[in-house]
Amino acid sequence: MRTRTVKDVDCKGRRVLIRVDFNVPLAEDGSVLDDRRISAALPTIQHVIAHGGIAILMSHFGRPAGTGPEPSCSLRPVAARLRELVGSGQNVNFVEGSCVGEAASAAIAGAQAGDIVLLDNLRFEAGEKSNDAAFGAALATGVDAYVNDAFGTAHRAHASMVAVPHAMAGAPCAAGLLLEKEIHFLSDVLHNPTRPFVAVLGGAKVSDKLAAIENLLPKVDTVLVGGAMAYTFLHAQGGAIGESLLERGMVEVADRLLKEAAASDVELLLPTDHLCGTGIEAGGEVRTCELGVPPGWMGLDIGPETVERWSSVLHKAKTIVWNGPVGVFETPPFDTGTMALARAAAEATKKHKAVTVVGGGETAAAVERAGLADAISHVSTGGGASLRMLEGAELPGLASLDRV
Ligand code: 3PG
Repeated sequence: MRTRTVKDVDCKGRRVLIRVDFNVPLAEDGSVLDDRRISAALPTIQHVIAHGGIAILMSHFGRPAGTGPEPSCSLRPVAARLRELVGSGQNVNFVEGSCVGEAASAAIAGAQAGDIVLLDNLRFEAGEKSNDAAFGAALATGVDAYVNDAFGTAHRAHASMVAVPHAMAGAPCAAGLLLEKEIHFLSDVLHNPTRPFVAVLGGAKVSDKLAAIENLLPKVDTVLVGGAMAYTFLHAQGGAIGESLLERGMVEVADRLLKEAAASDVELLLPTDHLCGTGIEAGGEVRTCELGVPPGWMGLDIGPETVERWSSVLHKAKTIVWNGPVGVFETPPFDTGTMALARAAAEATKKHKAVTVVGGGETAAAVERAGLADAISHVSTGGGASLRMLEGAELPGLASLDRV
């Protein structure tokens, strides 16, 4: 990666404004349900503090209207979880309300070396989403350096990602350690993969994954297409898909992709058997279908023969990138295929030193649920951002760092 990182910044005595992505899910009691994004930002925060700096954190949270503070979108629960994660010896000053108001400026000015200041939701201000230059300049006031560690937001051209580094041109601007790691796994590794290189793409719609398939096809040795989108491909091949989800507008595109793969050395594999149900809800009738999906049934997961075949493809891989579950993994038994592939990817990592990269919120959740997140080389903190990387797109949050 070309961008300099926080390790290249002299943090001593400096107020370092760090853009993090603390957009985390909350439990019904209002506490943080999944703190992965918070703990993933800790190495950068701790680096700044350990080097004598002051960490000023800013993040969005949810999708408030942008007309001022909304209690339901406050970062207060995140502040509580952050305090638990950094421990009681560490000062964390949470400034509730506006991130650019008097209280925020006073907290930033009054912070001492080693302190953490957490500003409230950036999206309380309309200028965040409109990438407003004046709002960016206001955020940049009173700080000495800018670090972007918000990979999950890198696909958004918002003020804290673009206008702030622009306003701070001349001051040190750098990537955080999480951002560096994400770029390594989702860009560097994919551009220079150890082979065989296998992509697993799942999810409901071909249209959501089309750009990623097109970008990855010329790079991989094998692509495994699962999830509901596989049925549009199977229909394009003339297969029986029963009542499975079909994206009629994408049948021609699927046919073209199949032909492109066949004309190249890339293997594009579709499920050869299916775990089927009469509906998507739990507790219904379930059967395995081998010769297509019969009328009245929907393909909701890959079948046992496909699980075996695809697991053996993964076992032989040296680089695996996976985005999208291959079945309705929230509803057992249609989680069987996704869980089995998670185990195969974990085994490939452990036994064969494969580099395995999982991206997308649902796939990350599935791997987490399988208890295998630590057995995968990298589970991305990005949803939309990690998909954009697989598409080979330029991400505004990364481009703005490269340009300062
Ligand atoms: C995410 O959760 O994907 C990021 O935090 C971006 O959030 P957004 O989709 O609301 O912009």
